Order: sequence, then structure tokens, then C-alpha cells
Amino acid sequence: MNKILVTGAAGFIGSHLCRALLKNGNQVIGLDNFDPFYSREVKENNIKDLLQNPSFTFYELDICNFFALLNELKNEKPNIVVHLAAKAGVLKSISDTESYLTNNISGTHNLLEWMRLNEINKFIFASSSSVYGNSNQVPFKETDNTDRPLTPYATTKKACELLNYNYHYIHKMDVINLRFFTVYGPSQRPDLAIHKFIKLIYAGEPVKIYGAGDSARDYTYIDDTVKGIIQSIHYIQNNTGVYDTFNLGNNHPVPLLGLVKSMYSVCKKTENYVHVEEQLGDMKVTCADISRAKSVLGYSPSTPIQEGLKLFAKWFEQQQSPNL
Ligand SMILES: NC(=O)c1ccc[n+]([C@@H]2O[C@H](COP(=O)([O-])OP(=O)(O)OC[C@H]3O[C@@H](n4cnc5c(N)ncnc54)[C@H](O)[C@@H]3O)[C@@H](O)[C@H]2O)c1
Repeated sequence: MNKILVTGAAGFIGSHLCRALLKNGNQVIGLDNFDPFYSREVKENNIKDLLQNPSFTFYELDICNFFALLNELKNEKPNIVVHLAAKAGVLKSISDTESYLTNNISGTHNLLEWMRLNEINKFIFASSSSVYGNSNQVPFKETDNTDRPLTPYATTKKACELLNYNYHYIHKMDVINLRFFTVYGPSQRPDLAIHKFIKLIYAGEPVKIYGAGDSARDYTYIDDTVKGIIQSIHYIQNNTGVYDTFNLGNNHPVPLLGLVKSMYSVCKKTENYVHVEEQLGDMKVTCADISRAKSVLGYSPSTPIQEGLKLFAKWFEQQQSPNL
């Protein structure tokens, strides 16, 4: 049986991943510091059910505090670490750069050091499509140049991929970097577009469309992302000498205006949006070439955007229900 440490376990992707891992019979150690980027209450709610599961152990812990890692996890020896903890808001990293550098890069370094000292050598890292910047080539391939990230957030993800390679090369750690592409679904981060839009739609307030609304994102439904992470766990478990990077996207970019229109249609509300100036740091398009993840991991996202939006809207409505 696997014992898997998931950092960022109380977050959006982390809580879904822990739930799926537990369902598959794994032991899961969750770690999170309830970073104030969004409400602690939301994160506590994300893991409420997990805390009832005897195969789940949770630590409220900051990966930036190396001694806390050493002390608190001294009795834990997972065989695989899935590292999702990060300051994840892209635009906030422009005004709050230092804390992103510390949290995302030093935090990752601490975790790698903790693993090295404890002889744990299977590491899966949450990277991001943002490393591609405004790449001229679409869809993005893992072999594309990633030397022009647009934001400090993207820079931290690229830096961690490089640091991970150091640990692979020097300490023979097996590493997989997973580049996620705009993940959405129930309990999605409240700062992300789909979640912000649905709140406005239900409040009867206008949705802001940046620029002409032709920027496009390769939205990936959470269940597809989680399946991809679990396939990566299987792959890293069964192979040695691994250093690899995979796009976990959907290969179907959706333009912003089309997304908003679909959301009004799914929510059965009258369209109400305004065009505003584009934001600095926004990529024009993201689109994953997923052929490598398909052939090596067996990754095959299967949730069309209309279906995913329906599932998300259903979850959102349940959250609004006074009976809950
Ligand atoms: N959601 C997406 O669309 C997306 C896209 C690309 C990459 N990613 C990456 O995937 C990962 C998970 O994203 P998410 O959307 O679930 O974000 P999230 O903010 O919901 O989850 C991240 C969790 O990490 C925790 N955390 C932050 N700093 C920490 C620290 N120092 N110590 C311990 N815990 C800490 C936070 O409290 C949070 O619960 C992140 O690394 C993010 O950068 C997400």
C-alpha cells in the first residue's frame, strides 16, 4: 500500500486528490498551512470529510519552516510526495513578489531537503502552463522554450522545475513535473475566473470581459487532472531514473467570451457583461499538447467544457442552498 504525502492538501486540487487517493486504498498524509490567499474556512471545509477517514493524517504546517517539517513529520515516511502547496494566484505575484519567491521556491527546496534527509525519492511537482508565457507555438509542447515567463508566479514554477532537476541529477530523485492548465470544478479556488464569474452571474452583476474576450484558456476539469496525477503516481512508482515533464491540459482552448456565454446558458440567466481593459500578465492563449502524457501516462481527459460547467454550476447552487 502506498503512503503518499500531499502538500497543499486543503486546497482545491489537493483536497480532490486526497479524496481520490483514499478511495483507491492509499494512506494519505495531508499538509497545509491555510495560506491566507483565500479563506481558511473554505479550506477547512474542503477537508472536513477527509478528516473523518482513519487513513488520512493531517498536519497544519508551513513548508517554509524547515525545522517544523523536521519535527512534526519525524514519524512519517511516505514513499511518494505530491507537492501542490504554493501561493497560486498569478496576478498577485506581481505586487507580492518576494513572498511568492520565498513560499514557492524556498518552500519547495525545504521539502526536497526533507525528502533527501529521509531517503524519500519519488517526487511529483505541480507546475503550470504559465511557464510557456506568450509562446508563439500553440499547442504548447513540453519541449518548447520556457525562458520567457510573464509573471513572478510563472518564474517560481520554472525555477522549481530546474531545482527538481538538480535533485534528480545530484541525489538520484525520481521527479515528474506536471504542468496544469486552468483547472476548474467543484471547490475551485475563489480567485479563478469561472468561480468569480458564477458568483457575479448569480448576484445579477455584470461579468468583466478583458479586452475583446478572445484570450483563450485550456480549461481542464478537476477529475481529469486528478486522474492524470494518479497516473503519474503509478508511473513514478513503477520506474526509476525518472525526470520528466508532462502537460495535463485538455487540448481544447475556450475563448473568454465563449466561456462567459456558455456559463450564462448553463445557469439559465440573461447575458450581462462589460468589456474592460486587458490585464498585464495575462497570457493570450493556453493550449496543451497532451500527446506525451497520453502515450507515457495513459492520460485522457474526458470532460467537455459544457459538461464540466454544468457540474460546477450544480455544486455552486448546492453551496448557496440555505438547507445545507
Ligand atoms: N488551479 C489551477 O488552475 C492551477 C493551474 C496551474 C498550476 N496550479 C498549481 O497547482 C497547485 C494547487 O493549486 P490549487 O488551485 O489547488 O491552489 P490552492 O491555493 O487551492 O491550493 C494550494 C494550497 O497550498 C497551501 N499552501 C500555500 N503555501 C503553503 C506553505 N508554505 N506551506 C503549506 N501549505 C501551503 C495553501 O494554503 C493552499 O491550501 C499549486 O501549486 C498551483 O500553483 C494550479
